[in-house]
Amino acid sequence: MRPRDCAARLLLLAITLPVTASASMNLALEKGCLSCHGTPPRGKAPTMAELASRYASAKGNEAEITKLTAHLREHHLFGGVPAHERLSAEEAERFVRWLVDGGR
Ligand code: HEC
Repeated sequence: MRPRDCAARLLLLAITLPVTASASMNLALEKGCLSCHGTPPRGKAPTMAELASRYASAKGNEAEITKLTAHLREHHLFGGVPAHERLSAEEAERFVRWLVDGGR
């Protein structure tokens, strides 16, 4: 391999790597979702995979997706999850759509 090709490949790798890791998974990490929903999950939190299989039936159902988004951000006086309540409407919708699409 000529050195120039090698550099080009490295550059290509650097560009494509962050894209192949799911952007929503990164956001989930950043928002601390995985500290409860990771594997193993914390306490009674379902894993992301469990949530994805629970949400899969909402695929293509916009009304249901809207409902799940609102439900996620809802404030609960007792037993609420601050990380859920802190999500913006846009972030919550992104997570719900990501889970509905399989959570990968
Ligand atoms: C402190 C722990 C904790 C953190 C952090 C957390 N969750 Fe949760 N989450 C839970 C628990 C516990 C449940 C189950 C609630 C229940 O069954 O009533 C849950 C439920 C859910 C549900 C299902 C809601 C439903 O009833 O349909 C979704 C979706 C979800 N979490 C997404 C997220 C996302 C996205 C983040 C990151 C922004 C996040 N969670 C961060 C603990 C957490």
